[in-house]
Amino acid sequence: MNRMEGKLALITGASAGIGEACARRFAAEGADVALWARRAERLEALAEELTREHGVTVHRDRVDVRHREEVRSAAAALLDRAGPPHVLVNNAGLASGFDRVQDGDFEDWDRMIDTNVKGLLNVTRLLLPAMIAAGRGHVINIGSTAGHQVYPKGNVYSATKFAVTALTEAMNLDMAGTPLRVSSVDPGFVETEFSEVRFHGDRERAAGVYEGFQPLSGDDVADAVFYVANLPAHANVLRMILLPSAQRSVSVVDRR
Ligand SMILES: NC(=O)c1ccc[n+]([C@@H]2O[C@H](COP(=O)([O-])OP(=O)(O)OC[C@H]3O[C@@H](n4cnc5c(N)ncnc54)[C@H](OP(=O)(O)O)[C@@H]3O)[C@@H](O)[C@H]2O)c1
Repeated sequence: MNRMEGKLALITGASAGIGEACARRFAAEGADVALWARRAERLEALAEELTREHGVTVHRDRVDVRHREEVRSAAAALLDRAGPPHVLVNNAGLASGFDRVQDGDFEDWDRMIDTNVKGLLNVTRLLLPAMIAAGRGHVINIGSTAGHQVYPKGNVYSATKFAVTALTEAMNLDMAGTPLRVSSVDPGFVETEFSEVRFHGDRERAAGVYEGFQPLSGDDVADAVFYVANLPAHANVLRMILLPSAQRSVSVVDRR
């Protein structure tokens, strides 16, 4: 049963990878979508395609989730145009760098903490009151297996995803007394632009991450997100950990 038709899903980080796949999936199921990311030209092309293919309404805004005032004005514009989203997918995020703490780069750390933790909070804080006032809504955070286990040189990225795990649980408690749901979908290895971003544009090194096994695709994760969002209002997945079959823990992978 499709409960998402005619609903509005806001997806942050919709210009690539998991977020883009979520946008395609929700639109294909007849949901209107709001797409946020920094690369406006990518959002424009995706919006054009989704409108043409599925006839849904697509809102798009160039938003850097780290910049609170940008989030504030995009949130106000969306609420004005379309009302509060039924589903908020807090997906925008990244790993930046791969070093031991003693060698770490402060700019990499700021980028991850400001995006993955403070960015998620900026978006949530500026939309949740309207969702609560509307008496419905579902926040789905994209966490990670790195939010449950650490791995060598994963230090600060893991810390941000452990924070997302904590925030999902805490926000779920904060929603007590409301009908709103809070969930997280926590994937293992997904082949997206993630590793290229982590290795600062080094495509060869990024490709090596996925060598010798079949990683998840953005579409696999979008399936999980859609499943979680589409459950009946009385059911909630608090946390879904989704791994490639070859991945046994955050750092153990059966490579051929
Ligand atoms: N790939 C994996 O193996 C994996 C595993 C577990 C969890 N995750 C999580 O999944 C989420 C999506 O990652 P992905 O794998 O799809 O990576 P991706 O292909 O690099 O996509 C990341 C998305 O986040 C957006 N983004 C980054 N910084 C942003 C900012 N400051 N403001 C707004 N948007 C921003 C990017 O858009 P712009 O650059 O256009 O802004 C892009 O759309 C992240 O939270 C990541 O931590 C990924």
